[in-house]
Amino acid sequence: MIVAIDGPAAAGKGTLAKRLAEKFGFAYLDTGTLYRGVALALLKAGHDPSDEAAAAQASAHFDLALTHDPDLRTEAIGAAASIVAAMPEVRSNLLKFQREFASCPPGGAAGAVLDGRDIGTVVCPKADLKLYVTASPEERARRRTSELQERGIDADYSAILADVKARDERDMNRQEAPLKPAKDALLLDTTILDIDAVFLRAIRFVEAAASADTKAN
Ligand code: DC
Repeated sequence: MIVAIDGPAAAGKGTLAKRLAEKFGFAYLDTGTLYRGVALALLKAGHDPSDEAAAAQASAHFDLALTHDPDLRTEAIGAAASIVAAMPEVRSNLLKFQREFASCPPGGAAGAVLDGRDIGTVVCPKADLKLYVTASPEERARRRTSELQERGIDADYSAILADVKARDERDMNRQEAPLKPAKDALLLDTTILDIDAVFLRAIRFVEAAASADTKAN
């Protein structure tokens, strides 16, 4: 069983993906960490995130250890990740790993949950279930601001809102694998539904997809 979850930054898809994976015993891959890892490798080596040759090189020799780096989740790395993610060579270098994870989940798990921007459209177009998790930019910026403040980090709502909008613009309007719902994706808007309501609804979707699979086989 492959569950594909896509959506813009800070919509709550990571939290949902993790909870679903835990509930059903599936393996979980946050594909954003791969693009963040490439961005981090570039910045650590003193390159600019828009340096295509360096980004291609970093993604071709990708070191998974980077996905555990404590600097990975900063706003600066998120913005740089969105820049490298627009490069076709970077995307194709990261594709194989994502597809292998989905088709052969680690630890012999019975399924995989992948979240990102192009999982339902490009990485796993035949996923058993596709969810598109979204929320208004204002709500996402509000959540991101309080999340940072709770961690004791100085956060300015207007700057974060501008960053969220810039990221949406880049992720949705790039040539290669732009962020958009797959035609057969089910939409979950977390502006109106809280995370528990979204989780309960998604559980029902997974159960329905599993029983459709059983009937088809
Ligand atoms: O989900 P995130 O904020 O960790 O993702 C960081 C950036 O990586 C995001 O702005 C766009 C890019 N990304 C992508 O293009 N495709 C994916 N499947 C996952 C992330």
